[in-house]
Parts: sequence; structure tokens; C-alpha cells
Amino acid sequence: MTPLSFYATETNEPSVIGWMPAAAVYFRDPDGHLLEYLAMLFDQPDPERRVTTWSDWNANRTPRNATSVVERIRDALPDEAAALEALQRRSSDVWEEYRAQLAANPDAIEPPHQAIAEGRVRVAVDASQRRLGFSVVQPVEAGRCELDDLFVEPESMRLGVGRLLVDDVASRAAAAGAAYVDVIAKPNALGFYERVGFETTGDVPTRFGRGVRMSLGLSRTSRASWLDSRPRLLKERPERASIGSHQGRMVT
Ligand SMILES: CC(C)(COP(=O)(O)OP(=O)(O)OC[C@H]1O[C@@H](n2cnc3c(N)ncnc32)[C@H](O)[C@@H]1OP(=O)(O)O)[C@@H](O)C(=O)NCCC(=O)NCCS
Repeated sequence: MTPLSFYATETNEPSVIGWMPAAAVYFRDPDGHLLEYLAMLFDQPDPERRVTTWSDWNANRTPRNATSVVERIRDALPDEAAALEALQRRSSDVWEEYRAQLAANPDAIEPPHQAIAEGRVRVAVDASQRRLGFSVVQPVEAGRCELDDLFVEPESMRLGVGRLLVDDVASRAAAAGAAYVDVIAKPNALGFYERVGFETTGDVPTRFGRGVRMSLGLSRTSRASWLDSRPRLLKERPERASIGSHQGRMVT
């Protein structure tokens, strides 16, 4: 089989479609039809470059990161419960092993009406107010705050959105008097929680198999060093007191 470029000429590297941006390789099937294999890229779109080669794109690309994607994190609104449920389903579906379980137990995901009404849901949005992810916490009790849910849109994963949502949860929990944020992590998300500062405290059985109990210490020292270890990415808003193998995706 001969790999072809966007312009159907023989090539040994993908073409990059700058306005998406996406990497694409083309093939002719036995009937002569042109087949496209396309993978979205994490980089910033660059429509002016139109279509270029993979090597040229990488020599001059502008990577996307949380600074460019997250405009702010705000309280969820009562009329977006259904949209957040849909986001949670898309996000959960990235873990292949949970897909069948969730399909068999659709009640496991519900619109977070009550949590929104209680002000426990925070939503990360981009500059066009598109939802990128959200968090749900329990109220602070006895100096601890439980992170119930954390979901990022599949196409916005690995851009720092989850980290910013944890940062937001931690800041608000600390302001409300918590010393720890606790979470029961799926084994797949363990690496993420470790990267953002959580420590494992033990295993716990869940409805869908093994869960890992983890805690993030919010003491002044550990929190300060954790925050100082990376740039502050969120734009502060005056109205706020406090602050994969993804299928078909090419990770650069
Ligand atoms: C887990 C999840 C919230 C992470 O959000 P994200 O926005 O993709 O994560 P970030 O980009 O902020 O990642 C922060 C760090 O964790 C790392 N990381 C992210 N996901 C990871 C994973 N699954 N395993 C290991 N490390 C991971 C990132 O590489 C990054 O590391 P760095 O500091 O070295 O750059 C997101 O993948 C998700 O919504 N998954 C599906 C739902 C889910 O499992 N939620 C958790 C319920 S327990």
C-alpha cells in the first residue's frame, strides 16, 4: 500500500491540515477510492499555513496548553446539568475497559442537578465559553473535602485542564478550612492524580472494580511548593474571592 499526501502524491510522512489542525495520510483502496486516515493534533490551529508536511509543521508549530485553552473556571449553572452529564459520558468513554460497564449501567451517570444547586460544581471554559471539563466536590467536613467527579472533554485532555480544575478545588477547599482533598481514583487516573500532588492511602472496592483512595495535603508548605512548581495559568476574575492512548489521536 502506498501512503499518499493530501494532494494524492506519494509521500513518506503525513500531511498536516493547518486549520484543524490534524495530521492525515491517504491511501487508494483496490477500487481506486482515496481513503483518509486523520488524527487531530493538540497544537494551535494555523489556517494561514493551509496544508503542509508533518516535518514542516513540527519545525514551526505553536503548541496548545492550558493557558491558551482555559479562559476561566466558574460555578455550573442550573440549565447545564444535561450538558455536563453528556460531557461526563464522553469523558468516561475514553477508558475502554469502562465503556461496556457504563453502557450496561446508564444510571451510573446522572445530571448533577443537586450538586449544581448546592454550588458544588465548577466548570472550566475556553474563551468562547465552550465547556472543557468540570469538577464536583462534597462540602468540607472535619477538615476534609471529597472530590466526587472530575471530567475533561476527550479532545481537551492532556492540556492541563484537569490540573487547573484540581487547583481550583484545592484553593476553594483550603479557603473553606480543609486540610485535605480526598478522591477515590480509578486505576487509569492514578498517574494523573499523582502528577498533581495526590498520595495513595489505600485501595477501596467500588461498583466498577478497584478504586484507589488518594489524598492531597493542603497544608501551607506542601501547597505552596506544589503551586510554585508550575506557572499560575488561570486569569483571576474580580467577582471570585478564590480563585490517550486517546483513540485516533496523535500526541506530539
Ligand atoms: C483524568 C483526567 C481528569 C485528567 O485530565 P487532563 O486534563 O487530561 O490532565 P492534565 O492535562 O491536567 O494532566 C496533568 C498531568 O497529569 C498527567 N496525566 C494526565 N492523565 C494521565 C493519566 N491517565 N495517566 C498518567 N498521567 C496522566 C499529564 O501528562 C500531566 O503531566 P505533567 O504535569 O507531567 O505535564 C482526564 O483524563 C479525564 O477526564 N479522564 C476521564 C475521566 C476520569 O477518569 N476522571 C477521573 C475520575 S477518578
